[in-house]
Order: sequence, then C-alpha cells, then structure tokens
Amino acid sequence: MSKILVTGGTGFIGSHTVVELHNAGYTPVIIDNLSNSNIQILDQIAKITGVRPEFHEFDLCDEAKTHAFVQANPDITGIIHFAASKAVGESVEQPLKYYHNNFFSLINLLNAYRGKPINFVFSSSCTVYGEPDTLPVTEAAPVKQAASPYGNTKQISEEILAEISAAYGNYNTIALRYFNPVGAHSSALIGELPLGVPQNLLPFITQTAIGKREKLTVFGGDYDTPDGSCIRDYIHVVDLAKAHVAAIRLLEKGNPNGNYDVFNVGTGKGYSVLEAIAAFEKASGQKLNYVIGPRRDGDIIRVWGDVTKSTAQLGWKAELGIDEMMASAWAWEKYLQENPIG
Ligand code: UD1
Repeated sequence: MSKILVTGGTGFIGSHTVVELHNAGYTPVIIDNLSNSNIQILDQIAKITGVRPEFHEFDLCDEAKTHAFVQANPDITGIIHFAASKAVGESVEQPLKYYHNNFFSLINLLNAYRGKPINFVFSSSCTVYGEPDTLPVTEAAPVKQAASPYGNTKQISEEILAEISAAYGNYNTIALRYFNPVGAHSSALIGELPLGVPQNLLPFITQTAIGKREKLTVFGGDYDTPDGSCIRDYIHVVDLAKAHVAAIRLLEKGNPNGNYDVFNVGTGKGYSVLEAIAAFEKASGQKLNYVIGPRRDGDIIRVWGDVTKSTAQLGWKAELGIDEMMASAWAWEKYLQENPIG
C-alpha cells in the first residue's frame, strides 16, 4: 500500500487525516516535532485503527534530518504537509518564528524531494481571501493582502508551490484552502488539543461549557450581519481529513488541471458566532455562559466557500453538519475530562 508522509500528523487535522488515510488503505508515516501536540495521540490513533502509526520526532526546519529521512524512505509516494505554526495573534507578535518555521520546513521538504516524483498536498487557508468581495468565495477570487504574518506564510507558500511545480517536473501539488475546522472523531478518542487558552471558537465554547473557562466572549455584536456577529464556514474535521485523501487520489490519478491546483474545503454554508453557540447548546444540552464583547482586531466579517470546484473535480463533499460538529466536539471535551492528555 502507498506510504503517505503526514507532517504534523499528531496535530488536530493531522491526526484525523492519519485515521482517514488508514481507512482508505494507505500507510501513513508521521513526522512531528510535538511543538503543539502530544505523543499520546499515537496511542489514541491506535485505539481507533488498531495500528500505531510509524512516527519520527524531529523538526523539518532541520535540513540534515529532513534529507536523511527522505533518503531512508524511498517508498513514500505522497506528502500531506500540515506541520506549521498557526496562531494568528502570536504571528503578529513573533513574525520571525512564523517565517522561520513555516518556510524552512516547506523548503527543506521540497528540496529533499528534488528530482523524485512526489504528490504533495499543502495545508492552506481561506485566510488568503481576506474579506471577500463576493460570497460564496470561489478559488478564482483574488488573494488579498494578508492580515497577519501567519496568513502571509500561507499565501507565499502557495506561490512557492505554484512556481516549483511549474519549474520542475517532479512535483504534483494541491493546496487545500480550509475554512474553519471543528469537531472531533466520532470515537471521541482524538480531537482538538489546544495548548493553554484556546484562541479558536469551538475549543473555547467546549472548555467554557465544561467549566475550564468562566465565560465565552463573542467578539463583536454590531457587525453588518443578520445577528451582528461574524459568519464562518465551519467544517467537520473528519470531512476535512477525507478531503486530503481525495486530493492524494486525484494526484495519483493525474490532475487534468495540471501539476498545481487549489481547492476550497468548506461546506458552502456560513454560521454566525451566535448561531454556532445555539447549535452547541442544542447538541450538548448545555446552557453556555457568554457575553457579547468588543470586536477582535483583524477579524473577517463574513466568509464562506463555494465548493463547486471541490465537489466536481476533487470528488469530495462535506457530509457532516453543524449538529455533528458540535456534538462530537462536546463528546471529546467530556472524554478529556475523564482521560486527560498531556
Ligand atoms: C483564524 C484565521 C484562519 C486560521 C485559523 C487558525 C483569519 C481570518 N482566520 O480563523 O486563517 O487558519 O484562525 O487558528 O485570520 N470568536 C469569538 N470568541 C472567541 C473566539 C472566536 O467570538 O473566544 C469568533 C471570532 O471572532 C470569529 C469566529 O469566532 O468570528 C471564529 O474564530 P476562530 O475560531 O478564531 O477562527 P478564525 O478567526 O475564523
């Protein structure tokens, strides 16, 4: 069975993708430096799949180790590259950390594969669209000036992939532009594991509901949206994981669009923060303690994706809705309370 390298494979989206690769008959191999994840996730994956995935702990910014790994593993046919720093606020405070981690790891990996045929799936973000002019936003929409160094690393990485795919014959690449990944595996054995105070909405909601946080602050209630709160396209992490398997399959088959392509990975439907809270309360049976607070700097008001291209050409479509997203995120939070990780 084809071996697929999953960098950042113990992280939130990475771990779910490892499970879906296994389910699709691939052999996932993980590289992770554990900077934002926990080694116990390997055991959790094993509880789901029955197989503890092959794991290599090192930092892809280490060029010598990256080259040595590639030399020692000639049977890897595809890469899904998640490993990157991803906190928007931290990237504004520490831009060099973001440019160092996100670019050196990508460039080392690409360099190590020079001349070797390789399928490469890159973890990108709808942040490249900024505040879109039209909704739902399609892949053809202009890439806007990045609002943060984190967003800039995603934009520039996409450009790097487009250019290397055009210049050299051996790279077949797809960038997946994720909307807002939430939820957890149906087993409640893996899910999002934020270090410290969560920056993202869903872990903040579940941690508030379970009593780890006193209350959720809704960042802004006076936006030009039906209920005044921001709108996002939330996507179940298991659906998102399956999109990566679909991307690998398309690259294996040969992408008729050429050797560099981008796809939106969302549901095509937007929910406001207040609607997300209501969906959580319904799915969990918990009343959430929240207040409407000031706006957060740099927030996009509304964004949701057009998924026509991914449905038609990637052969993938999100299957799980907001109720499953909320119920699974809540089941995972409750699991963590009984079985702490880290
Ligand atoms: C952001 C980035 C995205 C990145 C992701 C990774 C932008 C536009 N988006 O997504 O590219 O991949 O982080 O972490 O930069 N909210 C609250 N209270 C909270 C937390 C969030 O009201 O305590 C609201 C936000 O204002 C937003 C929504 O919930 O409207 C989702 O926020 P979040 O989960 O942080 O994701 P994004 O900002 O959409």
